[in-house]
Amino acid sequence: MIENKGGAGGGISYAYVARAEPGGNSQSPGMTPPGPILLFSIYRSDIPRFERLLVRALPDIPIHSASNPEEATPYLESTAVLYGWGFPPDMLEKMPNLRWVQKIGAGVDEIIERWPFGRDVLLTRTDGKLIAPRMAEYVLGAILDKTLRLDRARRQQQECIWEFFDIDTIRNLSIGIAGLGEIGSVVADTLRSLGARTLGWRRSPAPSSAVDELFTGEAALPRFVGACDVLVLVLPLTKETKGLFGTDIFAHCRRGMHFINVGRGALIDERALLSAIDANVVAHATLDVVATEPLPADHPFWSNPRVTITPHVCGPLVAEDVVPHFVANYEAFSRGHPLKNIIDLEKQY
Ligand code: GLV
Repeated sequence: MIENKGGAGGGISYAYVARAEPGGNSQSPGMTPPGPILLFSIYRSDIPRFERLLVRALPDIPIHSASNPEEATPYLESTAVLYGWGFPPDMLEKMPNLRWVQKIGAGVDEIIERWPFGRDVLLTRTDGKLIAPRMAEYVLGAILDKTLRLDRARRQQQECIWEFFDIDTIRNLSIGIAGLGEIGSVVADTLRSLGARTLGWRRSPAPSSAVDELFTGEAALPRFVGACDVLVLVLPLTKETKGLFGTDIFAHCRRGMHFINVGRGALIDERALLSAIDANVVAHATLDVVATEPLPADHPFWSNPRVTITPHVCGPLVAEDVVPHFVANYEAFSRGHPLKNIIDLEKQY
């Protein structure tokens, strides 16, 4: 049952409390549920789908939902578990009984800097493997758009011009993936399976079977970018990676490269990217993420024909894909077992 709790919006209510369907039982022997769950998404349209799956899996647990802090206010005091994204970090400070936060999403950069609890409250994230296949499709689409020269085809079509042109193939490309975690590895595997030569860069020296050549550590970054026809950023945003791609790194990039960012906007110095485009070092930039989202109306990216902007659509959090991961963690939490995808507060991811 989803009970309408009233609220803002002239009779339309957006805050809900979901309760058990009769006959449900989410408590098995050995489980001590931590307490009420608050589901939070700034996309209101997410709420019913996430809520339906949560109620079905955890029928005895009170589950409240909100898509902004005002709607969440009545539940902040009692909430033990926050499952959500897009909540302002200061909302956390009003949650005295919080024991665990699971981010809907793979990145925690927007809360980690202002995480108020230290180790007293557990912070986990969604497993990147659950969103990686769709992110790989996005990256592949961006690359093929260029190799197949679909922009030229569209131009010709507008003018009814039938004129042969050569197209390229991904098999001719050396594609670098910066960030070889759960998502970057799937992206690299996908591109390699189509014949691309894959290069990888990561900060730590851990090996990777997803790439043909691995570069590790910051000192290797200039050599890595210099070897890429296409560079794909899949890094988390941390104190170590913020602004990592600036003028000095673009200076080492291979001329005419395609730059794709599906990580976080603040990984790059946007002015340096624009200069690299002007200097023809970067032939095209495909950006799903930017430093300030939504991208301000007067930002030069909008009008630059060599920049493709998508509004952070890559890697959507599909309820059916990600809720089972939360539920498994919830059960682990209730039994005192280790959870998956715990954030390392030092590393910030
Ligand atoms: C999306 O950006 C995510 O963090 O998963």
